[in-house]
Amino acid sequence: MKLSVYAVPDSVADKALKDKIAVVIDVLRATSTILAALVNGCKEVIPAVEIEEVINMSKNYEKDSYLLCGERNIQAIDGFHLSNSPLEYTAERVSGKTLLMTTTNGTSAIKKAVDAREVIICSLTNVDATADYLASQDNDVVFICAGTDNKFSMDDVIAAGAVISRLSDKVENLDLDDLAVVAMSMYRSSSDDLHNLLKHSLHYKRMMEAGLEEDIRYCLTLNSAPIVAVYKDGVIKTIHKVLK
Ligand code: MLT
Repeated sequence: MKLSVYAVPDSVADKALKDKIAVVIDVLRATSTILAALVNGCKEVIPAVEIEEVINMSKNYEKDSYLLCGERNIQAIDGFHLSNSPLEYTAERVSGKTLLMTTTNGTSAIKKAVDAREVIICSLTNVDATADYLASQDNDVVFICAGTDNKFSMDDVIAAGAVISRLSDKVENLDLDDLAVVAMSMYRSSSDDLHNLLKHSLHYKRMMEAGLEEDIRYCLTLNSAPIVAVYKDGVIKTIHKVLK
């Protein structure tokens, strides 16, 4: 099994996803929020790139069956029901609903993975479930880190490293590209205190300045959303829930 890590979605070469499983990661916060919503019983999440796109899509849904969700540059979007804080996506708010979501980097990274054989939604909050699922498949895997404004973001690469580290305990003959090796060794050397490493990253600092410390704490809690989630035909759904 070949594992490749891309630091930002724009660095994914044409055809690089063909026949591969893509694992899309935006730890702070889009994929953590999507997984929190799914684990709390939302029906599905539909990612979109533009705010307008979300508003137009909502016209196809019954009132009360959907929520408008997301952010721009960390801030809530005027007129939307929920921001991009995973802590807002409680069972009371999201159960049974379709979430129409746009975020600055994360939702477009998901949509860019569409040429892959299968697209998995990953964050630190589901690393065990994701690694177990990938280990049960035969395909090569491409990790696509959402990054921040098309720049490398440490939190995403650390999450890729966490999954790769687990895979290396489960699968023989893994073939890692250079960034996969770096991701795994970065994760292994900092796994007992991720905050201490990630506090130096741009998006972590921006979130701290915005008073979002609780969101960071949630997003860096390993396996708090133990599900496997797949993006297929424009929709993100849970395909497997780990029983506790
Ligand atoms: C994004 O998609 O850019 C992020 O999830 C930003 C955030 O809300 O922290």
